[in-house]
Amino acid sequence: MTNENEKPEFWESSFIEKQAMWGFEPSNSAVVTKDFFIKNGVKNILIPGIGYGRNAQIFIDNGITVTGIEISKTAIAMAKKYYKTDITIYNGSVTDMPFDNCQYEGVFCYALIHLLGNRERQKLIFDCYNQLSKNGYMFFTAISKSASIYGKGKFVSKDRYQIFEEIKMYFYDRESIQAEFGKVGLFEIIEINEIYPFFLIKCRKGET
Ligand SMILES: C[S@@+](CC[C@H](N)C(=O)[O-])C[C@H]1O[C@@H](n2cnc3c(N)ncnc32)[C@H](O)[C@@H]1O
Repeated sequence: MTNENEKPEFWESSFIEKQAMWGFEPSNSAVVTKDFFIKNGVKNILIPGIGYGRNAQIFIDNGITVTGIEISKTAIAMAKKYYKTDITIYNGSVTDMPFDNCQYEGVFCYALIHLLGNRERQKLIFDCYNQLSKNGYMFFTAISKSASIYGKGKFVSKDRYQIFEEIKMYFYDRESIQAEFGKVGLFEIIEINEIYPFFLIKCRKGET
């Protein structure tokens, strides 16, 4: 069943129309995360919402095995074409996680969580945490309330707005990050500039 967060048609038509809409360079957050993962010996990661792979290649180039989840078939086909990778990318919605029984040493989830509703954000966070091996790391990026588009568009619920025709966005601050990630090993929040001001949210799974 499709819920309000699952927009395969929207993402399909966006990728068909705009193709590589964010270019081929990795995001600033992916570069920072790659450095951290290498330093901490992370060897295999899951990327929910992998898109056409621009944030995956930098990990692959550094010897990290990547598995993706992506709702758009077109984006998956683009990832295979542009990056000539044979990595596993599950075609489906993160709301249907898990897609396998693997434990990953890292999770990198870029600009996806803020597209989801309250329950789905919590489910994604806990589904990622459940697939993290002991001492693993999960890094999420999410849009900040300091973005110029915060408060624009149609009000949906607290800090959530219908910004573009099909897209609702939840805008984070440090308090809401603490509330949502406080139970999954949150250890650092940094501000990082992408297309908008984002937060890079860093969590670590302990021994137990
Ligand atoms: C804002 S884009 C970020 C893409 C990618 N991380 C990048 O920057 O190159 C969000 C991505 O998540 C995918 N997506 C959106 N909703 C999804 C869902 N419910 N499950 C899986 N993927 C989803 C979109 O197709 C898109 O590729």
